[in-house]
Amino acid sequence: MSLFKLSTKSYSELPQGQAAYIFGIFSDKGLPAEFKAAHPNLTQQIELALENGEFKAKLNQSLVLYTPTCNTARRYIAIGLGESEKYTADFLRQAAATAAKKVLDLKLTTLAIEFMGESYLDTDDAQALAEGLILGSYRFLNYKKSEDEYAGIASVVTLSNADIAAAMNYGMHVSAGVALARDLGNHPSNIATPTYLADTAGEIAKTGGMKLTVFEREDFEKLGFGGIQGVAQGSDVPPKFIIMEYRGGGPKAKTLGLVGKGLTFDSGGISIKPSAGMDEMKFDMLGGAAVLGIMSVVAEIKPKLNIIAVVPSTENMNGGEAYKPGDILTAYNGKTIEILNTDAEGRLILADGLAYITDKYELDGLVDFATLTGAVVVALGHRYSGIMTNDQEFADELIQVGKKTQDRVWQMPLDDEYAEDIKSKIADIKNTGAAREAGTIAAAAFLREFVKEGTAWCHIDIAGSGWHKKGRSYLPAGPTGAGVRLIMELIRSWE
Ligand code: BES
Ligand code: ZN
Ligand code: ZN
Repeated sequence: MSLFKLSTKSYSELPQGQAAYIFGIFSDKGLPAEFKAAHPNLTQQIELALENGEFKAKLNQSLVLYTPTCNTARRYIAIGLGESEKYTADFLRQAAATAAKKVLDLKLTTLAIEFMGESYLDTDDAQALAEGLILGSYRFLNYKKSEDEYAGIASVVTLSNADIAAAMNYGMHVSAGVALARDLGNHPSNIATPTYLADTAGEIAKTGGMKLTVFEREDFEKLGFGGIQGVAQGSDVPPKFIIMEYRGGGPKAKTLGLVGKGLTFDSGGISIKPSAGMDEMKFDMLGGAAVLGIMSVVAEIKPKLNIIAVVPSTENMNGGEAYKPGDILTAYNGKTIEILNTDAEGRLILADGLAYITDKYELDGLVDFATLTGAVVVALGHRYSGIMTNDQEFADELIQVGKKTQDRVWQMPLDDEYAEDIKSKIADIKNTGAAREAGTIAAAAFLREFVKEGTAWCHIDIAGSGWHKKGRSYLPAGPTGAGVRLIMELIRSWE
């Protein structure tokens, strides 16, 4: 991930000769007076385009203009901001992403940006602007040979009188974490193995002064990690149970727990998946990727609180020792699980993760992220993550930060009676719910059995939101990095 140089300047300090000058226009407001005064020739062109109806300044519309009389830049790119009454910072995040994509198409490197006249950006806007630029220009080209020497955007100067550099910087750090999560998802399963995730955690831990512990297959037996042990049995690729401890707060600071499903390839196991689309199951570690993305931002910005992160990581394969339908596994908290479908493996590795983290650490809140069920895609599509909880106040906090960041979560119920759906005749519980009924909730009801009583917990199913088939604004096709911006905002509100 290449990041570019960001700076803030006022009109009079604006450097000349930029490759592009990018500016935003509300569809109902036209050009700001300062702009008209500074660029009369451009104003004429844009007003003509508006008059002709070819450019309506709708959100994410763009128009490239060339004018010999303005020498600030080689070209000017107008971006629609939509209706001013509906404006939120996310409009700017989207508009910046649209601009970034246009800039990549044209292979430009140096940009000046004036989004709403020079004085109107507040800190949320500035953060969103930086996020839109970086997330919108995200590409994953690691495995493509290319003669093209274009290396992406090199520098961005934002016009503003307000001091927005810190907010833009913050947005840049958060976006780098999102990009890391996306990269981890994009790497295929033969590269992004559990060992690769553990090594990535090691690098993050080093940067952030965190404690790292990694348990191996040989440790699972004596630790009592029957869930991950069972799932990992069918794969020769070494599984890892990754634990990171960040202590940035004093004695009174809160402690947040994070658990992420790091299933690096889900074949379904003996209950094998259909072959069409099976390649997408390299994304089954996006929960773990979100957690590592979050920890990478934490390592840079060092917030004043404590965070414990756990990523159980393995493949789900069909080797000779693979676990089978009918098998019974015993998780870390001693509960026995009847396996009725080896494709419901995520909940098994999370069972050990949740039981372990709530046994060993005093947490003020625990969030797990997992590409857990196909059912959540049916229910919510790719726009929202599904959230389920044992603590409504905690879920409300996440719903709130979800609205603010537009890393959105939608709540599904988790009444106690859903526990009936996972009752087993032969063991404490089974790893499937009632056939074709509330699959996402049944998975959450299963997970709840492994969260120690009294810990406020939210389960976030990102099977839909974690990756997109079709790109949209700052969310490209492929992994989205869902969860990173959400938790970074929660962390900020907890500091
Ligand atoms: N990794 C899948 C869930 C998934 C499906 C993620 C589609 C992304 C897109 C998970 O391990 C799984 O296979 N779940 C099963 C559970 C079922 C067997 C109870 C499912 O959702 O079908
Ligand atoms: Zn599965
Ligand atoms: Zn899975």
